[in-house]
Formats: sequence, C-alpha cells, structure tokens
Amino acid sequence: MASKTKAPKTKPAKNYKHPESESPMRPEVGTQAQFKKKLPPKTYRYDSSLSPSLDWDGKNPAREQGEALIRQTLDAKTLEEAKVAASKLKAMSKPFLNWAGKAERLSFDVPTLPLFIHERLSTKAILETLKGHRFDRNQETMFDLWGDPQHSVTDQVLRAYEYQDKWVNRMILGDSLVVMNSLLRYEGLGGQVQMIYIDPPYGVRFGSNFQPFIRKRDVSHGDDGDMTREPEMVQAYRDTWELGVHSYLGYLRDRFLLARELLSATGSIFVQISDENMHHVRELMDEVFGSENFVSAVTFAKTTSATSENLASTNDYLLWYARNIDQLKYRQLYLDKEFGGQGASAYTWVELADGTRRQMTNEEKTDPALLPPQARIFAIDNLTSQRPPGDFPVEFRGRVYRPKRGYWKTGEEGMERLKQARRLEPSGDYLRYVRYLTDFPVFPLTNLWPDTSIAGFTSEKLYVVQTTPKVIQRCIQMTTDPGELVFDPTCGGGTTAYCAEQLGRRWITVDTSRVPLALARQRLLTATFPWFELKDEARGPVGGFIYASSGESVGNWRAQC
Ligand SMILES: C[S@@+](CC[C@H](N)C(=O)[O-])C[C@H]1O[C@@H](n2cnc3c(N)ncnc32)[C@H](O)[C@@H]1O
Repeated sequence: MASKTKAPKTKPAKNYKHPESESPMRPEVGTQAQFKKKLPPKTYRYDSSLSPSLDWDGKNPAREQGEALIRQTLDAKTLEEAKVAASKLKAMSKPFLNWAGKAERLSFDVPTLPLFIHERLSTKAILETLKGHRFDRNQETMFDLWGDPQHSVTDQVLRAYEYQDKWVNRMILGDSLVVMNSLLRYEGLGGQVQMIYIDPPYGVRFGSNFQPFIRKRDVSHGDDGDMTREPEMVQAYRDTWELGVHSYLGYLRDRFLLARELLSATGSIFVQISDENMHHVRELMDEVFGSENFVSAVTFAKTTSATSENLASTNDYLLWYARNIDQLKYRQLYLDKEFGGQGASAYTWVELADGTRRQMTNEEKTDPALLPPQARIFAIDNLTSQRPPGDFPVEFRGRVYRPKRGYWKTGEEGMERLKQARRLEPSGDYLRYVRYLTDFPVFPLTNLWPDTSIAGFTSEKLYVVQTTPKVIQRCIQMTTDPGELVFDPTCGGGTTAYCAEQLGRRWITVDTSRVPLALARQRLLTATFPWFELKDEARGPVGGFIYASSGESVGNWRAQC
C-alpha cells in the first residue's frame, strides 16, 4: 500500500520590518495652505574657542578666556580637571583660519520649513503601466514591494510629521542649509545619516560651477548668456560670493555644522574639492569636525589630460572626516591586481609549464602577451620578519640559508611545507618566498585613485560638473552597509543618488537649482539597475522581470521642495 506522504510543515513567513526604514509622513504640496505645524527658526552657534584671536591685546575676549583657563588649571582639585583646562588652553594657541566676517558670525538663524511632496515617482506605478491588461493576482503582492503609500488629504494635514510612514528616497529642491535644518527639526534625522557626500562649488570661477540650462553643457565663466535665470540660484550665488572666498568659507562652515548634526556616531563626510581651496577647506573641516577626526585626503584622477602653462592638474581631492574617529565604520576595499599595474609591480618572475623558473625578459615585462602559454607570473617575497618563530638553518638546492636579519616567518615544519609546495626560491644570498599573482589577486585600495578619470572630460557627462560614479561608489562602499542612509546636499547630476540606488543604500539629495534636479531625475528614471533581470531581453520591461523570492525594495523616490 502506498504510504501517504505528508507535506512537510513549513513555518509561515513573517514580514521582516526594517526598524530604520521609516520616516515621518509628509504633506503633499497641495495641502500647503492647511499645514499648521509651523516651527520657529533654529539658531546654530559656533564654538568661539575654536577660533580665538591670537593677539591678546586687552580688547579681545580671548584674553579673558585664556586667563580664566589658567586660573582653572591652577585651582583644579584633581589632575583630570587641570588636564581639561590645560588642553582647552592649548587649543587656543593653535593656528586657525580667519576670514572677513567670521568673528562677527558666531551664531546664525535658519528658517525651519516643512518639506512638501511635489511628485511621486513610484516604481510600482511604472511597472503596473508596463504589465498592461494581463494582470496576474500573484503579482499584486509582488508589486506591493515597490508600493507607494497613499494618504487622504485629511490624513496629510492632521498626521503629517507626527506619524511614521514607509521610507522613500528623496530629491529635494531647496537651499542645502534650509533643507538640512528641515531634516533635523521636522524629520528627526539628526544622527541618522551614515555618509554625507558634498561636492560644493570649488570656490573659483563660480559661473562655471553651475549648469544654467539643461541642454547646454559647455558653460563658460562670466558669460552673460550662461547666467542662471532661477531666483534661488541668484540667491545662492549671492550668499556664496558676496565677499568672494570670505563668504564662500562662511557658506561652507554653516553647512558643515549642520551636516555634523545629521551624521551618525559611526558616520563619515566626504568633501570633493580642487587644489585651489583644498587647504582652506581642510582647515575649516578641522575646526568643525575636529582635526582628530580627519581620516584621509584622497587624490583622484578627474581627467586623462589637461593643458597648463606650468604643470597641468588632472586630479581633484576628497577630504574625509569621521563624526567620531574611534567609532568610524570602515570597510576596506580591494582592487584587482593587474600585471605591471598598481600593487603588482614586483611580479617580474615567471614559471613555465614544465616548472622551470626565470626572470621575465624586458619585452615580456612590457607586453605580457609574449609570455609562453600556461606561464605563471610570480614575485619573490621576503621570508623573514623582525619577530620569531624561525631562526634555524635551511638547506635548499645544496646551499644553507639563515635569516640574514630577524627570523624566518615560519617554523621548521612550515618551512618544510613551503619546500614541498615549491614555494621557495633563492635570490643571491637570500632565500625568498614564491608568491603567484593569482594567490591573492587583489590589493587594498589606498588614498591614490588614478583610475577614476573620464576620458574626453565632458563627453560622457549629463551635467557639466558631474563626478565619476566610481569615486562616489567607493566612498559609499567604504563607509556604509546596504540599507543605510546616504545624503548629498549638492545633487548636481545626481551621481550620489544614482550610486546609492545601485548599491541598495537609502538616499536623500538636494539642489537649489531645477536644472540639475531635472537631469538627475531623468538619469535615475532611465538608469539600468543590475538586479533587475528581464524575462525576455528582446521585449524589454514589457515582457516582465525575473523575480527572486527575497529582495530589496528599491526605486521609490519623491521630488520635494
Ligand atoms: C559641483 S555640482 C555637484 C555635482 C555632483 N557631484 C554630480 O556628480 O553631478 C554642485 C551643485 O551644488 C548645487 N548648489 C550650489 N549651492 C547650493 C546650495 N546653497 N544649496 C543646494 N545646492 C547648491 C549647484 O546647483 C550644483 O548643482
């Protein structure tokens, strides 16, 4: 008799709730007139002790401050108290960056405005249009993955900014300072952002830092025809440029101060800058974020060639600071070793198919295609270290070797295994370790990125001052995990949002101009995301997608101002 086989008991799948993937419910722009939850402007203050004036001339408050700290040190009851006062005194004697208007601006007010939704770009809606009339019930739940919450007008007026809602990525039109204040005060995003990428105008030739028209990428500095017609941009120019580099530094300092509030304890901020103002911006960041939180200055290639009367510049910089260096989240990235390239210059030996080994010829070094078939490229590496275990004689090919300096990196047993595995090779009086190029085909990324230039400079760019995606991808990957929030208050062509979307991070981006936002919107809508697999390549998205049983919800985003 055939036995009845019971279907295995399976546990019903439960919804997994991402605790971090919520944000406050926001009102639509149509409800603006009824929106009553106004907040007062917020005052931000600078720590004046960070930029004391060094001339203790009797008129300056720094003198009083200094004398008070000396008194505190002398009167301290504990060593700890004395140390705190002394280190504050020490900080006062450090050099600092000063500019016109800095001392007068120890605090500033920012209006606290709500962010209204102007447009919802819902992946669900796009997919539903594509699937046309052939509606399959099972797909309904699938499409919910990309669902966009719909709220009644009453809900929006009564519940906006008081109730939690599903997370959506956002593109916001507005001044970065005001928007950051809204994110802090209305949306409670203080301490929630894992990475901030800022690519501000570089503080030189401001006219060519902005693209005033969608279809005009060859923007020239100081040309009337290239001037913006947007009032917000005129204001941004004026705020940034009234006193030239002096107001530029004030503009950046204000934004850094609010950016710092948004960062999580493990978070990072990257500021992209050119060599003209890199030194000033670094000092500014030292002041706001603390020099102890400096992580690195990355040099990255921006173009393959440039002309100059003197030495041409082909690179830009990233100044990277941690919110708190002791808690910094850092993921080491690796690059592929390429023969003759970065990280592989020592690989100049070759092992032939019959096992014989020799140094490469000069021709083979310049053209590895000349190497015999099945040849294995290797380097001969150091086999000694400053610390034990090994200090013993090793007999190899009729000769006895000892570690010349220090110790062998391995004990006698390990050395025997290396011998058996043909991992030893003599070089003069030294015995060395054979390291094949394929053993560890990657090397750690450092702060020099020569592989990030865009050939032809503007040819592949949508926006005139667009950053190469590789640069921002690396910053995201080094400092965030999937699902974490990335923020860029200088959206431009939307490279940060684009990279964050591709890497499964949440994002918010801001620009004061409609031109870059329109370009970024188009770029995101028409981008190809590698995890969407088409069922039928020939038919495109209309043919449907191949779905995995679990996946991340990506693609909901909204335009706001
Ligand atoms: C150099 S671009 C950024 C380019 C971007 N990294 C990309 O890959 O496309 C700087 C952007 O900052 C914007 N911007 C300048 N001042 C601003 C402000 N006060 N608030 C918001 N955006 C601002 C400009 O409109 C410009 O689009």
